[in-house]
Amino acid sequence: MRGPEVPEYIRRLAVYVPGKPIEEVERELGVSDIVKLASNENPLGPSPKAIAAIKEALPNLHRYPDGSGFALRKVLAARLGVDIDQVILGSGSVEIIEMLARAFIADGDEAVYSQQSFVSYQLAVNQVNGRAITPPATAGRAHDLSALARAVSDRTKLVYLANPCNPTGTHFTRRELDRFLAEVNDRALVVVDQAYHEYVERPDYPDALDDVKAGRNVVVLRTFSKIYGLAGLRIGYGVSSPDVVGTINRVRSPFNTSSLAQAAGMAALEDVEWVRTSREHNARELAYLQEELSRRKVVFTPSVANFVLVEFETDVKELFVEFQKRGVIIRPVGGPGLVNCARVSVGTRSENKRFLAALDLLVPAKVGT
Ligand SMILES: Cc1ncc(COP(=O)(O)O)c(C=O)c1O
Repeated sequence: MRGPEVPEYIRRLAVYVPGKPIEEVERELGVSDIVKLASNENPLGPSPKAIAAIKEALPNLHRYPDGSGFALRKVLAARLGVDIDQVILGSGSVEIIEMLARAFIADGDEAVYSQQSFVSYQLAVNQVNGRAITPPATAGRAHDLSALARAVSDRTKLVYLANPCNPTGTHFTRRELDRFLAEVNDRALVVVDQAYHEYVERPDYPDALDDVKAGRNVVVLRTFSKIYGLAGLRIGYGVSSPDVVGTINRVRSPFNTSSLAQAAGMAALEDVEWVRTSREHNARELAYLQEELSRRKVVFTPSVANFVLVEFETDVKELFVEFQKRGVIIRPVGGPGLVNCARVSVGTRSENKRFLAALDLLVPAKVGT
């Protein structure tokens, strides 16, 4: 039997292709010491306190989770200095990116985001048949906030800003954000995606939570997938006005975050020490990686996050395969402004050395240039 006709905008959707799991690459290559630097995960692993909380929650797996994640939202609200009805949980912050598109964009409405930014914005907008308006980044691969502001029209419902931006690793400043919000914020809801904010050590880096508290039309997105080391559990959160959170809640599926994820999230939040260790580790290893790239005269975009965008001179897809053969998984990116670029996550010192050793074999050093 032929199935029902699939709408044109669904047929046009590209399926998200994640970085390959370590196990799959190991199977393909018949090796066992793969280094995965492809998904911006915490190379130190999850907080031990989160693991303990998961073990404690296991006997209750036959019960549905608390659908709204009350206990975790309560802890988050207290920690962040907002009301509990300003916090919403998602199965990763990606789910909140998608829920926002479902809640605010109807056929033909527009969303604005930087052309060189997180791929999920595109997927979310396309899934609801929205129109994406995507001004290119600056020459330094940062968000071009003036161009983004100019792109906001009467049909724009959402603006997605990634700060820091994935895959570029760049950030924008408080002054830039203030100017942007002054220009567009009475016209569109501005989503500030701060998935990597815990890693940023710049005094001019804005915490958009302050904008939520100031009553601006802003949603902040955060995640437990990065510095908290819980990517496999899928849990993230959004903070905004009770009104906006109420609207997103209408399109949230009933039990969208699991009991284990909620328990682990609460324990991970308490583990301030683990976050500090992870941040310090990343700062050290990011500096090491960037110094080593500079020494080799490899072109990269200076990063404030836990990954670096490297620009190669040869076909990045072929290079990716060659890296993989040497047991190192990096993440090729592509599209306008990112030709032959790959994102390399910051690993442990030994993982970073493995990447650099493979790099030395694959990319000839530039001597005397
Ligand atoms: C900018 C940005 N936002 C959101 C996410 C989503 O993370 P998760 O859905 O795991 O919370 C990522 C993950 O790579 C990201 O880079």
